[in-house]
Amino acid sequence: MMKLWGGRFTKKPEEWVDEFNASISFDQELVMEDIEGSKAHVTMLKKCGILSAEEADQILGGLNELEDKAAEGSLSFSTQYEDIHLNLEKLLIDTVGEVGGKLHTGRSRNDQIATDMHLFLKKRVEEVIGLIEEFQGAIVKQAEDHIETMIPGYTHLQRAQPISFAHHLMTYYWMLDRDKDRLKDSMKRIDLSPLGAGALAGTTFPIDRAYSAELLGFSGVYENSLDAVSDRDFILEFLSNSAILMTHLSRLAEEFILWSTEEFHFIELDDSFTTGSSIMPQKKNPDMAELVRGKTGRVNGNLVSLLTVLKGLPLAYNKDMQEDKEGMFDTVKTVIGSLKIFTGMMDTMKVNKDVMEEAVGTDFSNATELADYLAAKGMPFRKAHEVVGKLVLHCIEQGYYLKDVTLATYQQHSELIESDIYDIIAPSAAVKRRNSYGGTGFEQVKIQIEKAKGALVTK
Ligand code: ARG
Repeated sequence: MMKLWGGRFTKKPEEWVDEFNASISFDQELVMEDIEGSKAHVTMLKKCGILSAEEADQILGGLNELEDKAAEGSLSFSTQYEDIHLNLEKLLIDTVGEVGGKLHTGRSRNDQIATDMHLFLKKRVEEVIGLIEEFQGAIVKQAEDHIETMIPGYTHLQRAQPISFAHHLMTYYWMLDRDKDRLKDSMKRIDLSPLGAGALAGTTFPIDRAYSAELLGFSGVYENSLDAVSDRDFILEFLSNSAILMTHLSRLAEEFILWSTEEFHFIELDDSFTTGSSIMPQKKNPDMAELVRGKTGRVNGNLVSLLTVLKGLPLAYNKDMQEDKEGMFDTVKTVIGSLKIFTGMMDTMKVNKDVMEEAVGTDFSNATELADYLAAKGMPFRKAHEVVGKLVLHCIEQGYYLKDVTLATYQQHSELIESDIYDIIAPSAAVKRRNSYGGTGFEQVKIQIEKAKGALVTK
């Protein structure tokens, strides 16, 4: 079989060498984008008089045929033709005859592949943004139901201060909002057309890059042909934004896993997002959450891989760049899958409100209330800290909590303490009184939920 580039060669690579070189096993994922790019290119060649209307229409007819076949999955590709571009060109020539060979006029695989990936990511990033919004919607829904549900807030995974469960959940809403912002911002750079940059230097044909860009729905073109074919920043950005997004999901995964242990028992994940054990009949394992946590590793890896591929590359195209695709496809798939899983888990999880409230009622996370109480009465905070520390120690020795301390004992530690202390240290009072802007006070939590709801509606 003659190579499409075989003119200057006297010998062909052996099959196993072809296999090493080929990207068709994975870049066939770009089949639709490649056809779309070719259609725009040939339409532009026609408009600019570089191909006759008849030639262009024949090619377009062929491309449409290939597109239909691709949609029904009936195209077959071969390693012999290396990548998606050469495979499609071969299929086109088989379909329309020699005129198909005119498609590649004024174009190179270098601007072609860059165009394909811009088109591909543009669609996928839009999809990811939509899925983030769905997940945010699920978070807001749970949060609305749990504004007044309290859980211990932790630092160092030690109980710190009681908070509203909604406040905790909404943290993830804001993280995801930043993820969404980053992805939206990256669109400015994804939404550019490299098409017409040629191999690296532009072309001698009187092409119209703005026109093909417009046909493809891009909002602009690369200003420098060398940059257009060498740039993979837009993929790096996507991988990096995805790594941050997955890191957020992974933190939530960890909390879901922890909260659904028998020890915490704060939530129960729905049966439909958990699995059983092949040996231990009682088990209900949070596999989906664990997988999202685990898959964060491969997404981080994909980012580091591409950074490493690119770091020493001279301009312009180098075959190393063929290594940019698998990590990108894998990341798209992983991020989309993980977001769907989390939306489902968030929607269906059962919140064990009683267990959470029992937890906040039987710990020392109200100790700060007592210290603040003394400080508000004029005791220097450092001193108040020490007084309360001693009281906590006393309670630990006695085996009870601050709410069980008698007024007489309180007053032995400080005469400033009066009988109103019992109301002050109640967890609900502790949460309610943290009414500083953005704090966990129920009123503040309501405000942020309203903001979030407004943003989701007007997105
Ligand atoms: N399969 C190649 C890639 O993915 C397409 C570009 C090939 N260009 C070239 N000059 N060999 O990077």
